[in-house]
Amino acid sequence: MQDRVLTSEDGKDSSQRTQSRVFPSRILKFLTLFVVLGVGFCVLATYITWYFNLRAIGFHALPVIKPCVVEEQSELRRWIKPPPSLMHNMSDEELFWRACFAPQVQKYPFKRVPKVAFMFLTRGPLPLSPLWEKFFKGHEELYSIYIHSLPGYQPNFLPSSVFYKRQIPSKVAEWGKMSMCDAERRLLANALLDLSNEWFALLSESCIPLYNFNITYQYLMRSRYSFVGSFDDPGPHGRGRYNPRMTREVNITQWRKGAQWFAVNRKLAIDIVSDAKYYPKFRDFCRSSCYVDEHYFPTMLTIESPHLMANRTVTWVDWSRGGAHPATFGRADVTEAFLKKILKRKSCFYNDQPSSVCFLFARKFSPNTLEPLLQFAPSLLGFK
Ligand SMILES: *[C@@H]1O[C@H](CO)[C@@H](O)[C@H](O)[C@H]1NC(C)=O
Ligand SMILES: *[C@@H]1O[C@H](CO)[C@@H](O)[C@H](O)[C@H]1NC(C)=O
Ligand SMILES: *[C@@H]1O[C@H](CO)[C@@H](O)[C@H](O)[C@H]1NC(C)=O
Ligand SMILES: *[C@@H]1O[C@H](CO)[C@@H](O)[C@H](O)[C@H]1NC(C)=O
Repeated sequence: MQDRVLTSEDGKDSSQRTQSRVFPSRILKFLTLFVVLGVGFCVLATYITWYFNLRAIGFHALPVIKPCVVEEQSELRRWIKPPPSLMHNMSDEELFWRACFAPQVQKYPFKRVPKVAFMFLTRGPLPLSPLWEKFFKGHEELYSIYIHSLPGYQPNFLPSSVFYKRQIPSKVAEWGKMSMCDAERRLLANALLDLSNEWFALLSESCIPLYNFNITYQYLMRSRYSFVGSFDDPGPHGRGRYNPRMTREVNITQWRKGAQWFAVNRKLAIDIVSDAKYYPKFRDFCRSSCYVDEHYFPTMLTIESPHLMANRTVTWVDWSRGGAHPATFGRADVTEAFLKKILKRKSCFYNDQPSSVCFLFARKFSPNTLEPLLQFAPSLLGFK
């Protein structure tokens, strides 16, 4: 095509020049041929260099000499590539600002394979990581992992692990305090830097997957609603924690409660990270026995995007033993009957239809449950 354009331009040129009799037509023909040959040779040479470069490096890295036609793509790639290292030195303020860049054009001008970001909010080690390794195995293009642990914690994952170098810059996060919400926003913000991440699931070190990767992935990708626990509790642990000083932003009928373990889509992830309207109110007027991490996101999201909320979580937990904390399961608890009971048909709504699959994850499992979980994973949880 390039050749044709050049020839026709040359043709126009030559007719003008012939009229003015500056250049004899024979020289012009020769020059045209020369230009055509030159361009052809250039294209061929670029192609050969590109082809052999790809072969030489086994298709893994980018070609060293890029052909001129791919230039535009590389320019775009700079924008769509996730950062090479998760250990950046941006402050939260810088990070949150950067994370909220969002394209205004709906259609992506490149092939975008949406991923699920699995965000682990932990104190330090991930004792159930061997189970998760099996869960992730073989689905490398479809997930990314982020870990927020106590600052100073040195993870010792091998380079072959899916958790290797997946730590993000972390700060102390205390249960029931705003620092916990800060950590969750920090996880979301870091995960938002990768444009392929479409769903964002918050997990802890005591969480386990209940289904194989395929089911989990499809369940999230096909959902119209984000999974955030959100309900109106009229009692002392619900509305009783409301402080009228935030009435301008949140009135008592809008006050919501829900466990912190969410799975949200990209739109809500950006809403959470970019919020500057509700954050100061919850920071100042929902302190200590208010347990801000149970109210801030559910309330804010229900006010701003009620139509995007499933109002339920996908993380199963057992409150049946009573008390301030849900049950923690130990080695002796994890039997075939127990896992079957968790997986047993329940009913909930999924995309406005009754569904028997309501939970994708479960907590709280202590480190010594690893062995029985690995044993039952192939038959009950569906991954080897
Ligand atoms: C971050 O690191 C870069 C170079 O690695 C340095 O130039 C910059 O000053 C650092 N910024 C902060 C806020 O530490
Ligand atoms: C997941 O789905 C893909 C294609 O749909 C299939 O090739 C693969 O075997 C599935 N994996 C599991 C663990 O079911
Ligand atoms: C709370 O705010 C909502 C929405 O603005 C409004 O419809 C409702 O009447 C308010 N309730 C009270 C008790 O002020
Ligand atoms: C979740 O709750 C909000 C407000 O409380 C409501 O508008 C929305 O329809 C609910 N979502 C679903 C899926 O029922």
